[in-house]
Amino acid sequence: MIKIFNLNDVISIKDFQKKDIEFILNEAENLEKIAKSQEFSDELAGKILGMMFFEPSTRTRLSFETSMKKLGGNCVGFAGSSASSVSKGESLADTSKMFEAYSDALIIRHSLEGAAKFISDIVDVPVINAGDGAGQHPTQTLLDLYTIKRQFDKIKGLNVALVGDLKYGRTVHSLAYALGMFDAQMNFVSPDELKMPKETLHDLKKNNVKFHETNNLKNVIDEIDVLYVTRIQKERFPDEEEYSKIKGAYLINHDLVKGKDLIVMHPLPRVDEISTDVDNTKYNKYFEQAFYGVPVRMAILKNIIKNKF
Ligand code: CP
Repeated sequence: MIKIFNLNDVISIKDFQKKDIEFILNEAENLEKIAKSQEFSDELAGKILGMMFFEPSTRTRLSFETSMKKLGGNCVGFAGSSASSVSKGESLADTSKMFEAYSDALIIRHSLEGAAKFISDIVDVPVINAGDGAGQHPTQTLLDLYTIKRQFDKIKGLNVALVGDLKYGRTVHSLAYALGMFDAQMNFVSPDELKMPKETLHDLKKNNVKFHETNNLKNVIDEIDVLYVTRIQKERFPDEEEYSKIKGAYLINHDLVKGKDLIVMHPLPRVDEISTDVDNTKYNKYFEQAFYGVPVRMAILKNIIKNKF
């Protein structure tokens, strides 16, 4: 059998080539039936997934756990370091070594950018980055792309607005690179204080990716196919006063999107940036998007664990 997907870890979307992403999206499509039904597979029977969640999570943690169980495997781990020996002063390196001893792959969410890369260098099992501070969230990007592809049957040529916290938002950092690989056009909509990092803009320019920056959503709303909204993340601001000035910069409600030819996505959790009056409309794709975390993460786990064993 030709092994098409040959990544050993999932740390950054920048480690993926377009063909790797396409492979995972195709695999997810094949697995969606199991994800949606009462069915299970035994492809990862006997395998254990170690889950180290140092930061809060609902969707990423639960969808990985569901995915592992749907594939016949099992999970161990912690959600919040207070329940682990990290609270006694154990280092991240030692904690990771223990997970390596007890499991066949590791998932880590941590507030420090680079945490997943750090442990992938010291353990011998596959490591998946479930979000590292303001760095990257590659598996979120794969399910975001899957959602877009399910909706439009393509990604190339679509016009996508990434809105909100583009400075600290790890989901949009990963997504911008991936959309660039698929020749989508991007509008970066943010307050001046929360613009996309210069390094990301530099990389996109180097790859001839088309993007436009603005702080006014109304400038672009008539042109876009996807309105990808993010939360202004209070927990990432060094200064709460700065957060207070910017919070509520964008409010997406039904009046704003009514009559437009677009879908609304959000990695969630939302606070108040999308009004609940969008929830029961055709524009809402954010709950479906969260569900797609299961087939997409099943595809990732199946291939990354099979590559190792
Ligand atoms: N999208 C996302 O990462 O959600 P959680 O923080 O709930 O995992």
